[in-house]
Amino acid sequence: MTETKLWRVDPGAEGLADDPQIREAAACLARGEIIAFPTETVYGLGGNAKFRDSVRKIYEAKGRPSDNPLIVHVATTEQVREICTDINPMAKKLMDAFWPGPMTLVLPSRGEVSDTVTAGLSTVAVRMPAHPVARALILASGLPIAAPSANSSGHPSPTKAEHVYHDLNGKIAGIIDGGETGVGVESTVVDCTLTPITILRPGGISKEQLEQVAGTVADDPGLTRPDQIPKAPGMKYKHYAPDATMLLVPAGKEKIQELITDEKNSERRVGVLTTEENREAFPEADVVLCCGRRSDLKTVAHRLFAVLRDFNSKKVNVIYSETFPETGIGKAIMNRLSKAAGGRIVE
Ligand code: TXA
Ligand code: MG
Repeated sequence: MTETKLWRVDPGAEGLADDPQIREAAACLARGEIIAFPTETVYGLGGNAKFRDSVRKIYEAKGRPSDNPLIVHVATTEQVREICTDINPMAKKLMDAFWPGPMTLVLPSRGEVSDTVTAGLSTVAVRMPAHPVARALILASGLPIAAPSANSSGHPSPTKAEHVYHDLNGKIAGIIDGGETGVGVESTVVDCTLTPITILRPGGISKEQLEQVAGTVADDPGLTRPDQIPKAPGMKYKHYAPDATMLLVPAGKEKIQELITDEKNSERRVGVLTTEENREAFPEADVVLCCGRRSDLKTVAHRLFAVLRDFNSKKVNVIYSETFPETGIGKAIMNRLSKAAGGRIVE
């Protein structure tokens, strides 16, 4: 059991890299300890990417399978050059367009970061986050920071410091609480070693946005075809699942109402994952939780993981969920929802 420190930092404050709390957190990283910090997507669990022992602590605290590589977080392009052998023109274009921001690039590794970060692969995933606290922490530490999402393996990613505390208290040296994260789903992972560039995990930057800069963009067939193994090792694992059995209902509101009626004589407590527009539509359900507005999918992404976690405290047995159009950030939302539901769909 480690004592987990809590640092509260205002992301809007000036001169964050000199903030005494950020400095204390950075000193922890320099000593080889691991700490959680906010990014614009979800909270990350960071450690020195060059130090094997720090990386081992990350896998241990999360209970993460050792074949699932970590994203290295940087604050400058010099740091990218230190870590990767070749930033090809396409990667450069994407970096100029979307960094700092919710996009991760897979590039050839120089072998500078610990081989446990890359899980032995010849490539490394790199991201320059936009969150002021994340940037300040990287700059204050002077280190490339290896950081997966700061949840226990399999749980929804944390969008609030309290989610991290719930999963990792006593297992990590500290948590920087910088408030709720903005985007709410993780970064888009783009493989730049392939032509055309290929999305290995949909996320905060949409395929449409990437296409505007890169032209042709492919999707990893492993994301949708059961006979193909996903190229991002993390995408093959069960993930984001609430305690209750979750089912996706593409037919929408009326079908969900029908399913609730069918449950009336069962002992099961029924939850519905819906949106503001349909908030009043399920009076017979035991628990109704809303994630944002259908008319603005960004609000759905922002709330999604918090709502999945909230269902656990409501002790429901089954959750029926609305689905969303797979355009823009809708693709990332549907990817996370399908995983949370273990692929279960009510036709
Ligand atoms: O928004 C995010 O990306 C958050 C914040 C903290 O930055 N991080 C995050 O990390 O989501 P994590 O570890 O939960 O997900 C990283 C994903 C995994 O699916 C992993 O398999 C994949 O990226 N990945 C990492 N390195 C890779 C590589 N060299 N090749 C292919 N996939 C890789
Ligand atoms: Mg994760």
